[in-house]
Amino acid sequence: MDFFYRCIECGREYPGNQVMYLCPDCSGDSPPGTFLSGLLEVCCSGSVQSPEELYPYPLVKRDTYPVGNTPLARPMRLAETYGLDSLFFKLDNLNPSGSFKDRASQMVAAQALALGESTVVVSSTGNAGSAMACAGAAYGLEVILFVPQSAPKNKLLQSVLYGARVVPIKGTYDQAFSLSISCSREFGGINRNTAYNPMTIEGKKSCSIELYRQFGDNIPDVVYIPVGDGVIYSGIYKGFKDLRDAGFTDRIPKLVCVQSDRSDAISRAWRSGKPDNIEEATTIADSISVASPAGGRYALKGLAESSGWCVVISDEQILAAQLELSRDAGIFAEPAAAAGWAGVLHDAPMLRSEYGPDVNIAVIITGTGFKDMDVFTGRTAIPEAIEPDLDAYERRFLDS
Ligand SMILES: Cc1ncc(COP(=O)(O)O)c(C=O)c1O
Repeated sequence: MDFFYRCIECGREYPGNQVMYLCPDCSGDSPPGTFLSGLLEVCCSGSVQSPEELYPYPLVKRDTYPVGNTPLARPMRLAETYGLDSLFFKLDNLNPSGSFKDRASQMVAAQALALGESTVVVSSTGNAGSAMACAGAAYGLEVILFVPQSAPKNKLLQSVLYGARVVPIKGTYDQAFSLSISCSREFGGINRNTAYNPMTIEGKKSCSIELYRQFGDNIPDVVYIPVGDGVIYSGIYKGFKDLRDAGFTDRIPKLVCVQSDRSDAISRAWRSGKPDNIEEATTIADSISVASPAGGRYALKGLAESSGWCVVISDEQILAAQLELSRDAGIFAEPAAAAGWAGVLHDAPMLRSEYGPDVNIAVIITGTGFKDMDVFTGRTAIPEAIEPDLDAYERRFLDS
């Protein structure tokens, strides 16, 4: 589609024929890595005939890096246990690098390819980086990735294997965010930082377009989304907003922001009306551990316009939800990716009483459990080996 950029704060518009990050007038003194000011929204300047035309850059060579079109699972055992008849899980753990972040990386790769850029610079808590590294491997782009050294090992290893230049830093994700911006300013390349590059939101909106295709006229009433920087949330909001504005749907589902009580900056801002960083984010769900959410301002807009709400849960609830997804639905999610389900569990009595048992719920499963196996240390164990005979089996498992 033809597009231009518009600042979500001052409304100033900029032509789409350039790479832009933040509104020069409004980004002002907001240091990189905070609730960024001056986020730009990509706006369609023509008419579109189908939802797939709503992307600013065409998703070229999709079979080279087959992102999205993830299936919907209907978890029949959980639906029965909790009296929620119309419950769906969108399995974004099945993306090429194992997380939802492939959607943003696919769009930034499309931007780079369209503009003849060969380098992409990114900072990440882990998944955005491995997704961009995966896209880089598929399309032949150089990827420079700044990550906190504390990121789960599997995510870092994955990125190294994909051939990215991985730069672990002795600092936080927020510091990696700043450093990556300095790096792309100084040495060139497109910056893929989440929210900072508006194409990340454009990529993530593909989830809503797929949900529209999968549900038809009966799009979900409520969508549960795990939130850290707020950009998955923003992308899903933007997708439904674009679908509505282009006349494909008549409403935006209620979008629920689910956060850990150890990383709840957006939820606090939603309650107080004041976007402020929290001092420190310490949730075990590393992918949603963010003290200063880059996409917070756009997510707050989505919360207001979708009549959504925030659910804050404990890490214990997230870990319990992760185990329940494995045991009772056959879905292996990393802790952050299980947070959406923990949010539904928190809200289940309210959902049944206020919306009825057939409320149409979609939960976004944002990443695979293989990303972070250390989280199981001390929580679960592989049984000790037995001698290879039936007696040993009986003694271990059948004798009471
Ligand atoms: C698996 C997973 N879930 C949820 C999130 C949260 O997304 P956002 O930071 O855009 O809110 C992330 C972000 O890294 C993620 O990797």
